[in-house]
Amino acid sequence: MLGNRKIAILISGRGSNMLALMDAIESGRLNAEIAVIISNRSDAKGVELAKARGYTTVVIPSRGLSKQEHEKILIAELKWHNPALICLAGYMRLLSPEFVQTFPQQILNIHPSLLPAFPGLEVQEKALEYGAKYSGCTVHFVDEGCDSGAIIAQAVVPIHDEDTIQSLADRILVEEHKLYAKAIQFILDRKWHIAGRRVLGIKI
Ligand code: GRF
Repeated sequence: MLGNRKIAILISGRGSNMLALMDAIESGRLNAEIAVIISNRSDAKGVELAKARGYTTVVIPSRGLSKQEHEKILIAELKWHNPALICLAGYMRLLSPEFVQTFPQQILNIHPSLLPAFPGLEVQEKALEYGAKYSGCTVHFVDEGCDSGAIIAQAVVPIHDEDTIQSLADRILVEEHKLYAKAIQFILDRKWHIAGRRVLGIKI
């Protein structure tokens, strides 16, 4: 698979990280090719946006299917496109161990906190409630757990006294849009290795 720079992007919602990756590729900041955008929701805003930009966009609805049935279709679709990386961008479903093991070290996620702090959902609210002074975003490999895979890159943002959930989310999102493309570039360049949980060689 050497030289394969194709990525698949999995979404469930508005798709702003997906758009940021498209912008990075189209402007030459990210040397990659989008093989396919896949959504588990037909009503995701991101689906409309991806189609409008002319990208191959596939909806594989999860509703009404078991996780196993849904993932079987998803895996077949992904294998057909043969991406080097599967980039989760607001994909709201946990992947099964079988799925993760089908694509070892090929699945990336972006999460709007400084992991391991605040995994899961409603993370800006949790960071504010906890009284953290900094938050940020994390790009990590996806493993069998929830937001628990090896960390690839992080960006830090301050939390201000007057912050609301929305203002903090907005400040983090700006960093997400920059960080994901840079992290993907490094992973595709294959100048990294893993020692235990440490992904080494990434310079962002
Ligand atoms: C982002 O905050 C991302 O970190 C998280 O879900 C959100 C998706 O937003 N995993 P978008 O769909 O990319 O706009």
